[in-house]
Amino acid sequence: NAGSVSFLQHIVHPISVARLVMEHTPHVMLSGKGALEFALANGFEKKNLLTEKSRKAWKEWRVESKYKYEINSENHDTIGMLAVDDKGGISGACTTSGLAFKMHGRVGDSPIIGAGLYVDNEVGGAVATGLGELVMRTVGSFLVVELMRSGHSPQEACRLAIERIADKIPASQKGAQVGYLAVNKSGETGAYAIRKGFNYALTHKEDDTFLDADHLVQD
Ligand code: GLY
Repeated sequence: NAGSVSFLQHIVHPISVARLVMEHTPHVMLSGKGALEFALANGFEKKNLLTEKSRKAWKEWRVESKYKYEINSENHDTIGMLAVDDKGGISGACTTSGLAFKMHGRVGDSPIIGAGLYVDNEVGGAVATGLGELVMRTVGSFLVVELMRSGHSPQEACRLAIERIADKIPASQKGAQVGYLAVNKSGETGAYAIRKGFNYALTHKEDDTFLDADHLVQD
């Protein structure tokens, strides 16, 4: 089962609206004005989420308005989560502020089922972070799950999906980051990124660890 929202403005927790789409509508995805109307009809509050710092940064960017495809901690913030319960049931979630300084209407990978997130309860789940354009072009999370279905471990599947992207990065997007996390039905996990700086938390029962993912480019 799946639910998502895209181009949803003024709502603090769009991930909760996405869950309602999954649980209470016959659809998988709501977007823009319709997603906002659905959120407001279900008790969410409309808020101004633009901070003074962001407004100032946007005004400075508007002087040249260059669409630079650089992903770093200053201009994007995607969080992905995968979980396996005690009966082996797998679930996943993904939420993002999206890319900063983009064209109006741009949608990234996170709300696209199969790109930013994909779970098949018979196989495993995968979630992506980084430059959504690169993930969408390879339907990345679906690819990771399909690689696990054909026998690869979560770690191998993440690495192969990153290599698929890295082989084809357009010159204008060199330097971009993408990272995948994956888990399979047995609870084995994997994580791999194009470059260093992608880290993740792994929790097993009471144990929490914070790990750096392996990466392809060794700078
Ligand atoms: N991964 C988030 C985005 O590209 O919008």
